[in-house]
Amino acid sequence: MKFDIKKGQIGSKKTDVSTIALNQHNEIIRPELFDKDTLVLVRKFLALGDLPNEVGKVSCITGNQFFARIILVNLGDLDAISNKQMFKSFKSVSDLIKQLNIKSHSICFDQFLCKTKSPHQIGEYFSRAIIDSLYVINSQKSDKKRAAKTFINTIFFNGEFHKDLALGIKHGVAIAEGANLTKDLGNLPPNICTPSYLASTAKKIANTFGMKAKVYDQKQIEKLKMGSFLSVAKGSREAPKFIVVESLRGPKNKKPIILVGKGITFDAGGISIKPSPDMDEMKYDMCGAATVLGTMKTIGELNLPLNIIFLIPSCENLPDGNAVKPGDIVKSMSGQTIEILNTDAEGRLILCDALTYAERYKPEVVIDVATLTGACVIALGHHATGLFSNDHELSGELKDAGVRALDEAWPMPLWDEYQSQLNSNFADMANIGGRAAGSITAACFLSRFAKKYSWAHLDIAGTAWVSGKEKGGTGRPVPLLSQFLIDQAKK
Ligand code: BES
Ligand code: MN
Ligand code: ZN
Repeated sequence: MKFDIKKGQIGSKKTDVSTIALNQHNEIIRPELFDKDTLVLVRKFLALGDLPNEVGKVSCITGNQFFARIILVNLGDLDAISNKQMFKSFKSVSDLIKQLNIKSHSICFDQFLCKTKSPHQIGEYFSRAIIDSLYVINSQKSDKKRAAKTFINTIFFNGEFHKDLALGIKHGVAIAEGANLTKDLGNLPPNICTPSYLASTAKKIANTFGMKAKVYDQKQIEKLKMGSFLSVAKGSREAPKFIVVESLRGPKNKKPIILVGKGITFDAGGISIKPSPDMDEMKYDMCGAATVLGTMKTIGELNLPLNIIFLIPSCENLPDGNAVKPGDIVKSMSGQTIEILNTDAEGRLILCDALTYAERYKPEVVIDVATLTGACVIALGHHATGLFSNDHELSGELKDAGVRALDEAWPMPLWDEYQSQLNSNFADMANIGGRAAGSITAACFLSRFAKKYSWAHLDIAGTAWVSGKEKGGTGRPVPLLSQFLIDQAKK
């Protein structure tokens, strides 16, 4: 994928398709940017009245000597268009491009400039939309014809702030490519995407960007006394891995930001086995880990001057003669004991030990990302990620980053009142808190291991993938986390 920025009239470079934006009256925005011939052609089509006058609606018509095809996109009232609508409009264009048999596209960004959006934003949204749309899942298909398009976008821009636009595109490309890696990992089958596979992926990314990777194996995890994490791995024949990557590009004395990702590469529920329908989707239970790896790639590409540590506890959760049982009590790395009442509440059991491990870095903040609870899907559906935090300011920063990245998270309570649901008669705590407020009690469980630092937890059970005909990973919340880190780098 290439994005070339140019000055001049849009017809000056021949492309397979060109995009032209329309306003709320279905009229060409800033017609002076186009040659007469193109204007006549487009207006002739618009006069037919086929294109609904609605923001984000697109149509593809036959072009002329400059562009073989023209995509028309309605932006509505440019000064009133929201960031979401602008992105949605770019997505409609790029979804249409995906269906065309073409190699080049041109667009004139002067048409998209408005009072409420900077060239940076427009460049970022456009590049993200194109890379997101043109993503294909084909690693396991015999027919590789469905390969992602190698594609050249020529962007004409005659306004000021070319640097701003170029930086926006750079950010957009890095974010979208990070998110595509996250999708790839999630979409892989669980017999390929194992804990060892995640570990080798982490090492590869670390090597590419000069980060330091260390992978703890079973014996070394035992030495760390991660009894809670290891109890989940007991039912599986795949070796558990604890992946640690250090990316230290910030000032020497600056405390690190830590990202922790849940890496359950398949969650059958263990002895508390899940029902069979849709169980295949539990291959996505490593999307927290995949988000951490995708974000690693993004920040590597952007070379952000930050100290960041990436932690991934990874294993399978399967039933077996040797598997952990309901009623078993395990000792976490923190020393706290846990009565496992439901082996399907395993995410918190692997994350809690990673949160304790994080203490050794004396971190500035720790953010964990996990497909943690079905209850979070019930609470927020598929639009917002659940956001829990012991630090009001951190929570606000994450929420705000999500809004700007169009990858939203919504704050949930983490009050002391919920903690008693985790009481156990036999151990320091139980690993489940009953049916009520399931996503909150899961977060409460984690909070007991995150007392020594400022911490946030993102429950992505509803946002990490989509089910049904279009089943696949979404790459969320790579945009949110990347935006958060870009903001931190500016501080
Ligand atoms: N990985 C699941 C959570 C999940 C469920 C994510 C459905 C996406 C869709 C997690 O390990 C789990 O099984 N959680 C249980 C917790 C319960 C036993 C307290 C759940 O949500 O049912
Ligand atoms: Mn589970
Ligand atoms: Zn799980």
